[in-house]
Amino acid sequence: MLIPNRILFVCHAQRPPVVGESCGSKGAAEFLQKLREILQAKMLWGPVMATASGCLGTCDQGPWAVVYPDNVWYRGFTPEDAQEIVEEHLEHGRVVERLAFTPPDSGETSQGGNGFEV
Ligand code: FES
Repeated sequence: MLIPNRILFVCHAQRPPVVGESCGSKGAAEFLQKLREILQAKMLWGPVMATASGCLGTCDQGPWAVVYPDNVWYRGFTPEDAQEIVEEHLEHGRVVERLAFTPPDSGETSQGGNGFEV
C-alpha cells in the first residue's frame, strides 16, 4: 500500500444557492481534473494525490483546496493555476503565495496554522 506524501483536497460542494457561494459552481471539478492530468503526466500520482472533498467550511472567495500535511489553503484558483500549484508546491514545496489564503492581520500564509478562529 502506497501512502501519499501530500494530498490536495479540492472542495466540490454544491450548496443550495440560498446559503451562498459554493466551490462546486466555481470550476472546482475542472481544476481537479486538470490537476490529476498534470500529476499523472509528471509521474507524481502516488506520492501525491488530489481528491474531491466536501465543504471545507470557508466557502466565500472559492473554490477552496487544502494541501496536507502542509496545511496550506488555496482559494480563488482556476484550472489554469493547476500547473503552477503542481510545479511550485507539490514538486518543490514552495507555496504559491498569490493563491494562498492569508489570515487577516497576519501577513503570512496559512502554512503552519489554519488561520481560522475557532
Ligand atoms: S463550498 Fe467549498 S468550502 Fe464551502
